[in-house]
Amino acid sequence: MKKILVTGGCGFVGSALVSKLIAQGYRVIVVDTEWFGNFLTPHENLTCIKADIRNIEDIPFEGVETIIHLANIANDPSVELNPSLSWEVNVLATQQMASEARKHSVKQFIYASSGSVYGIKKEERVTEELDLVPISIYNKTKMVSERVLMSYQDDFKIHCVRPATVCGWSPRMRLDVSVNMFTWQALRNNEMTVFGGDQVRPNIHIQDMVNVYEHFLKNIEIESGCYNAGFENISIIDIANLIGKKLQGTKISVTESNDPRSYRQDSQKLLDTGFVKKYSVSDAIDDIIDSFEAGELQEGDNCFTVKWMRHLNLDQ
Ligand SMILES: NC(=O)c1ccc[n+]([C@@H]2O[C@H](COP(=O)([O-])OP(=O)(O)OC[C@H]3O[C@@H](n4cnc5c(N)ncnc54)[C@H](O)[C@@H]3O)[C@@H](O)[C@H]2O)c1
Repeated sequence: MKKILVTGGCGFVGSALVSKLIAQGYRVIVVDTEWFGNFLTPHENLTCIKADIRNIEDIPFEGVETIIHLANIANDPSVELNPSLSWEVNVLATQQMASEARKHSVKQFIYASSGSVYGIKKEERVTEELDLVPISIYNKTKMVSERVLMSYQDDFKIHCVRPATVCGWSPRMRLDVSVNMFTWQALRNNEMTVFGGDQVRPNIHIQDMVNVYEHFLKNIEIESGCYNAGFENISIIDIANLIGKKLQGTKISVTESNDPRSYRQDSQKLLDTGFVKKYSVSDAIDDIIDSFEAGELQEGDNCFTVKWMRHLNLDQ
């Protein structure tokens, strides 16, 4: 049975990914600080280790074939809360993991980078060939980690995935990512507050995100490198309008934005490896509405990364 190490496996994406890997018969070891909780269903093939990836000796690499590395301080404002912590977790710990992976003959390292590494681009087709001009510290930590990891490509396969903003339902829910946030506002307040609205951003459904990681896991022969993973480049106002059509009567208030950035992503390189996209932003909205109606979606402060990291005093 193939043994997979998933760091950050208790997070928004990790929770969805780990349950799918377990369902497919993999042996999974999760290493996570569990800052936002642990919503994984116990299983005989699942071992959860509550540990910080900076403490490399706490991570069992023995017998691991593939590492899927998701544990990071995972968005711009949360990284800004404590830049030293963010560089340690996002970059230094990643380098330590790569070094241990080499020592333990790990075959493949899949890394969750970010589509935001490109910065602001005017080009309609933002492909992997364009220069990276990261703007925030978060973007910079992702770019540096990618480069560190690529320097190990003679030791193991390295697949750096650059996800768009992920949307949809997960047992560890994030309500600070655009589609999820607007859908939640509409459900709770019958009103969405849109900052600006014309900014175009790429999106990916959480199940497609999970499928992208699984695609690389199952196709280790894919060339080492960086791969965009974002399929719908949509303006913020169009997302709000789409939600408004599904939740009739929702008011949309537009206010001025202090973040006018627009960026797109082109994922043809990923599609050329045989990946097939199955879900849409519209599906993600439907899933969130369904989980709300089923009483599964509960708002807590831990659904908002910055708020919760402050609560945990991680800003100090
Ligand atoms: N969600 C998105 O829209 C999106 C977009 C692009 C890239 N990404 C990247 O995908 C990955 C997963 O994102 P997510 O949305 O699931 O984020 P998340 O914050 O929900 O999950 C991150 C998990 O990592 C854990 N963690 C953080 N620091 C740790 C440490 N030092 N040691 C061990 N565990 C630690 C947290 O407890 C959390 O469970 C991240 O690397 C993120 O940067 C996410």
